[in-house]
Amino acid sequence: MIFTPFTLGSAELANRFAMAPMTRSRTDQPGDRPNALMAEYYGQRATAGLIITEGAPISAVGRGYSLTPGIYTQEQIDGWKLVTDEVHRQGGKIFIQLWHVGRRSHESIAGEQPVSASAIKVPDQVYGPLPEGGFGMIETSVPRAMTLEDIQATIADFVQAAKNAVEAGFDGVELHGAHGYLIDQFLRQTSNQRDDQYGGSQENRARFLLEVTQAVAEAIGGDRTAIRLSPFVTEGESRVDPEVVALTLKVVEQLAPLGLAYLHFSENISNCAEVPESFRAQVRKCYPHPIMVAGKYTLESGQAMLASGYADLIAFGQPFITNPDFVRRCREQLPLTPVDYAAHATFYGGGAEGYTDYPTA
Ligand SMILES: Cc1cc2nc3c(=O)[nH]c(=O)nc-3n(C[C@H](O)[C@H](O)[C@H](O)COP(=O)(O)O)c2cc1C
Repeated sequence: MIFTPFTLGSAELANRFAMAPMTRSRTDQPGDRPNALMAEYYGQRATAGLIITEGAPISAVGRGYSLTPGIYTQEQIDGWKLVTDEVHRQGGKIFIQLWHVGRRSHESIAGEQPVSASAIKVPDQVYGPLPEGGFGMIETSVPRAMTLEDIQATIADFVQAAKNAVEAGFDGVELHGAHGYLIDQFLRQTSNQRDDQYGGSQENRARFLLEVTQAVAEAIGGDRTAIRLSPFVTEGESRVDPEVVALTLKVVEQLAPLGLAYLHFSENISNCAEVPESFRAQVRKCYPHPIMVAGKYTLESGQAMLASGYADLIAFGQPFITNPDFVRRCREQLPLTPVDYAAHATFYGGGAEGYTDYPTA
């Protein structure tokens, strides 16, 4: 089943493998511009049914990690065209992940005090400029709470970034609503203590997510819009919000009529709880459209997940870093290049080494 084609909105995918979004921090500077090296990297992996790019900041203040590729300047749009052209030339499909990190940033990266639902900082580190020069992990800044004007402007930034993505040739966009970044910060009580229409009740905490998704879907079409969520992940949080799972189910119900390309659940990363089967069953019941899951899946567990009917697409992350031809290796049962210590060392930053130099089988 994983090798069979799948219709995703207006895109025909060759198979049900997706390459999960992975930040690799290889842009050209200044200006965080995508480049020919990135085009080569994504092109090498175009046999995935769908590629989802690394997180792409939608605005300068939405940046949380140095060297990540933006989608808010003309130079960045032009750089991304190299990527989409190469992936399409290789017969692949590609969505861009639209990212606003909110409080998971530092003023030296965001260019100003980072923003969030509320002015609450958690102990957290991001990849940014070191005082002694070069880049490394630095403690996040205390964010300021967004005003209602900031919220409207940020929704407009998401819409403009989505339009820029279409101009750059992407088949669609995935909103990063996972991993404790801005959209997730609005959802959770632990990071959202607002007393206006964007905080307090569950309905209010879901409002930002739903308004962003609706606005983007209206601008570029629901079939070109997707969203990633991670209710069982507590990345960037100091404690678990007891309501986030119930709230996610309500959100999923409200997303169903938007006709999105897919709904993507990120599971099983650093700080997380196991996803109960009851959650998968509830999601399937209220969401009769394409569902993607990611999180340490193997060919076997991915196929089992598809067979269970709880998901339609499986996203693989790290296997695609070291195996550009991951799909072929699975199909022909060829050995995989493991994600070893050396691979970890080249995850973020650098050049071609550990990026475009992994051979095909
Ligand atoms: C180097 C690296 C960078 C990542 N960057 C992102 C990102 O930009 N956006 C995102 O949503 N997830 C990101 N992730 C998480 C992956 O999308 C995926 O959910 C995770 O790696 C689990 O899948 P895997 O076990 O198949 O790798 C990243 C993971 C890795 C290893």
